[in-house]
Amino acid sequence: MTAVLEAGRQDTSCDHRRLRAAAIRVLLDNWTGTGTVPSQSLYPHQWSWDSAFIAIGLRHLSPRRAQQELESLLSAQWRDGRIPHIVFNPAVPPQAYFPSPDFWRSSTAGRGSGAPAAPETSGIVQPPVHALAAWLAHLADPHESERRGFLRRVHRKLDAWHRYLAAHRDLGGHGLAAIVHPWEPGLDNSPCWDVPLHRVSPAPGGSFRRADLKHSAAADRPTDLDYARYVELARTYRDHGYDDARTAHVFRVEDPGFNALLIASEYALADIAEAVGADPGPGRARAERLTRALLDRLWDKERSVFAARDLHDDRLLPVIAVNGLLPLVVPGLPAPVVTALTATATGEHFGLGTSHMVPSYDLEGPEFDAKRYWRGPSWFNTAWLIHHGLRAVGATERAARLLDGFLDDARATGFAEYVDPHSGAGRGIRNFSWTAALTLDLLADREAGR
Ligand code: SER
Repeated sequence: MTAVLEAGRQDTSCDHRRLRAAAIRVLLDNWTGTGTVPSQSLYPHQWSWDSAFIAIGLRHLSPRRAQQELESLLSAQWRDGRIPHIVFNPAVPPQAYFPSPDFWRSSTAGRGSGAPAAPETSGIVQPPVHALAAWLAHLADPHESERRGFLRRVHRKLDAWHRYLAAHRDLGGHGLAAIVHPWEPGLDNSPCWDVPLHRVSPAPGGSFRRADLKHSAAADRPTDLDYARYVELARTYRDHGYDDARTAHVFRVEDPGFNALLIASEYALADIAEAVGADPGPGRARAERLTRALLDRLWDKERSVFAARDLHDDRLLPVIAVNGLLPLVVPGLPAPVVTALTATATGEHFGLGTSHMVPSYDLEGPEFDAKRYWRGPSWFNTAWLIHHGLRAVGATERAARLLDGFLDDARATGFAEYVDPHSGAGRGIRNFSWTAALTLDLLADREAGR
């Protein structure tokens, strides 16, 4: 019996070594010299929240490279503090990705809002996971970080980023950050956005050409009609100089995922402040205020999940999706909320424990589609976040099972972008950077016995 157990353990450690080597290969291949592309085909530039997750994995390979990843993203920060969701690589041909730099025109249209003269960037944002990533990158090798003055440099920039969100994006006036485009929460075509997005008149069909369908199956991607609305929203923002005060923002929503990650990052920013000898008090106070607002505004007691609030009519959107579970990462939620949220995760809507990872949308919802982008498939970054949330609230057994499922799905799909939550089949593209990076991170946890 002991021999069998021992052999099993050796198999696992050998599998883990192979998986680690394969994940490293993806990150090396996708490294451009200053940062990492999410995918060489579908996403050939630098993406904001991707880079944060990538840095969390890179720190196990090279803490210095993890720092570079974040610093190259931050070098494109706008003067108003925003971190753009894409930083364009000028060496990549414009037709490789749409919307391309000549659509966003950040250096001209965004000049009044403080866009840099170079590089070109998009004008919208993505979830603020960066302070959390910077703190974790620092902890991977505090001496090297100290020697390079990493925290000191990023502290000021991350503080400006959070201040942008507080000053320009509290569109509801209740202390939460609002998103103004469905790409901002990262869950692009989630059914959460269907109602607010339908208020947007689509851009005319012939006015743009998608590049994504050259690399990924149409059934795995958003529809043309949704794309036409994304384009129209971005064009309107651009034509108002990316100025939040001047743009009417037809689409404005308070998202529980975006705000939960902001809270986690505010706490990380407070840790960073303390480490550089600045006052951690304001960051912690902001985190506490945001947490109160999150509970007041976005806890849907009836459905036992957090929900997005449409600022058009100030109503909760009655959609159950993975963004509603992400507040599990928020420290200090009231115990009844944690209990209800954990029960929702394991219940019929998400099937945690029986599904592959955590589906992006309600398994029983009318819009569920096991293949299409954020309308059902399970993603590795949300699984990583929920794994950490479960661990933090003491659900260690469930957290461990989710970790095992994550590693199995990453291995079986060749680091897919997302997977079918029923079958585990890979969807979207392969060799996706954050899937590989977060695999490295969870393997390190597993090796450390966490
Ligand atoms: N995820 C969006 C895309 O598919 C933009 O960030 O291009």
